[in-house]
Amino acid sequence: MENSSTDLLELSSLPKENWWGDEYLYKVGDFWLLPEFVQSTYRLIKQYKPLPSDIILASFPKTGTTWLKTLLFSITHQSSKDRLAKENPHDLVPVLELQVYGLSNDQPLVTTPANNVSPRIFSTHTPYQLLAETLDSSECRVVYVTRNPKDTLISMWHFVNKWEDRAKKGLWPLEVAADKFCNGLTPCGPYYDHVMEYKKLSLERPEKLFFITYEELKSDPKTHVKKLAEFLGCPFEGEDVEEQVEEVVKSCSFEVLSNHEINKSRSLEQFNLPYNSFFRKGAVGDHKNHLSDEAIERIDALTREKFHSTGFIY
Ligand code: A3P
Repeated sequence: MENSSTDLLELSSLPKENWWGDEYLYKVGDFWLLPEFVQSTYRLIKQYKPLPSDIILASFPKTGTTWLKTLLFSITHQSSKDRLAKENPHDLVPVLELQVYGLSNDQPLVTTPANNVSPRIFSTHTPYQLLAETLDSSECRVVYVTRNPKDTLISMWHFVNKWEDRAKKGLWPLEVAADKFCNGLTPCGPYYDHVMEYKKLSLERPEKLFFITYEELKSDPKTHVKKLAEFLGCPFEGEDVEEQVEEVVKSCSFEVLSNHEINKSRSLEQFNLPYNSFFRKGAVGDHKNHLSDEAIERIDALTREKFHSTGFIY
């Protein structure tokens, strides 16, 4: 992140690579960012001073961020069920490099109307390699969610093709998407480096970072929601713990959330993205319906090389 200016990172000074059609990603550190996120990510890195009570949800795109937002919000806030019915998860838990350090907004919106009570919860797709100093500068807690790389790729491929401003220029062919994914050339890529650095932090400092996979949450949501609450310092208490946990899991389920009117009818304003594009299928293993055997073999080989040597299995 070397730059003479403290508040601007010139796009023209950064390496760029084509990832699809006439779209380019820009290299910041060792990661590829969409051009609209370069300045805001830079501002976030330079300006964000987390409060010790802040909770930061970090993730690679399309790994279950929206789901975790609702879970974190529900665990830490009373009457969350009503708010989930009326407000989109991305308004309840703003994205640091979008709503807070804004796309064109110079003034950080560190307190949003939905986030004006402690603890504040923010999300980010920024890799730990770029955010280490910020996260280490405070006692703030970090939750990282990840997901099987093949399902992540398929979710991203669908998402990008539904992104109106981009998709009107033509669709992103799946073979191209798979190839770019393997080469690390997707927004916030490389996926493997993104995941591994947060994984390492979770092993070194489990009190700082809670690492969870989409698949673990799917297979046993109640157990993991309880663990998450303990990590956040607000364990479920009382005689009706099981009912409370069940209520949180249900109100944050794909079926319930995706059927709220707010999530069916409105858009993430800053990005012209319909909220419903964050709720597609919500399943484990959907890649089998889309990827060729060759693509699966290629990604599996890469996953073995990148993850298995460190004991992290997918
Ligand atoms: P699919 O495209 O596989 O359906 P993100 O929030 O990081 O952008 O990830 C989006 C993915 O999470 C999408 O996956 C979406 O359907 C899924 N998702 C959203 N809300 C969910 C929920 N409450 N439970 C499970 N999956 C959810």
